[in-house]
Amino acid sequence: MSERVRTLIKEEEVERRICEMAREISAYYQGKELHLVSVLKGGVFFTCELAKRLSVPVSMDFMSVSSYGGGTKSSGVVKVIKDLDEAIEGKHVLLVEDIVDSGRTLSYLLGNLKSRKPESLRLCTLLDKPERRVVDVQVDYTGFEIPDEFVVGYGLDYDQRYRNLPYIGIVKPDR
Ligand code: PRP
Repeated sequence: MSERVRTLIKEEEVERRICEMAREISAYYQGKELHLVSVLKGGVFFTCELAKRLSVPVSMDFMSVSSYGGGTKSSGVVKVIKDLDEAIEGKHVLLVEDIVDSGRTLSYLLGNLKSRKPESLRLCTLLDKPERRVVDVQVDYTGFEIPDEFVVGYGLDYDQRYRNLPYIGIVKPDR
């Protein structure tokens, strides 16, 4: 089956918003060092664009989780595929994601990271689909709240494709 992609948020709009978020985050962490934890794979594009625009000293690490490993989405079981390389104890950690959907992955990740005793822990997401929330998650920085549509681009995939689109699109079946 083929599909087409309709633009939801233009490249310039995404960039402008990331610049605003970077200014807000830099102001909040002024005088501190910030440790970005990016969630593979989708979170990587946004993490890099955000990191380039932060004015505080930044270090980065990556984690990979399989949402609902082995089970159905409703099981909410998240499995760690690749853990962080470094300890986060005593660090100011900002978890960076491309999207918060049901909230299950982020709820798990926040709990997991919190147990490692960071000095502080906040969550930043480029996109948020509040309509889809099943588990309550405190999001500290949101780029855009979006409707419940299947979105791609800026790290988000459809069957592993379209992650590299420099804008946010909605996938529709081509008929
Ligand atoms: C996406 C996204 C979050 C998760 C959010 O990852 O990056 O990690 O889903 O969904 P939730 O709020 O319903 O838990 P995905 O599982 O698509 O993996 P990917 O980033 O490797 O594509």
